[in-house]
Amino acid sequence: MNFAAVIGAMEQVFKDVPFGIEHTNRVLRNAEMIMDGESTPEETRVIVLLASILHDIGAVEAQRKHGSMAGHLQEIEGPPIAREILNGAGVDAAMVERVCFIVGHHHSPEKIDGIDFQIVWEADTLEALLHGSERSDPAALLEKVEGNFRTSSGRKLAKECLGLL
Ligand SMILES: [Fe+2]
Repeated sequence: MNFAAVIGAMEQVFKDVPFGIEHTNRVLRNAEMIMDGESTPEETRVIVLLASILHDIGAVEAQRKHGSMAGHLQEIEGPPIAREILNGAGVDAAMVERVCFIVGHHHSPEKIDGIDFQIVWEADTLEALLHGSERSDPAALLEKVEGNFRTSSGRKLAKECLGLL
């Protein structure tokens, strides 16, 4: 497993879009903080880290091919790019499939089927809420947190970051 290679490949994809790298790094950091609070097992931890690094990897290709970074287009374009990066980094096949499933559904919370996907969802949703239109509406924020965050450390982190405690 070569995390540095995966991070390097992500930075290469986003070389003309610095926001993509910054956003990815924030999601990665959120995911790490949530996992520290949840005592996440090692294999799950690796999947979450890889999926966090690659979750938006289809955005640039979606824009190039379709002129849009809409979520469902990112979900289509992301997995083939993620698969190539992960195979190049020597990640085992089952893990590649799981990470690609999360990348391919990361705008579709109804597809969340495990704690790994849930943590990536929370880490990314926190960034959306920090920069979203509900930012100045505590009641709306609280509703979003209650509706989207299932892990206790994710809920706590979100409330802290959003000033809801
Ligand atoms: Fe994201």
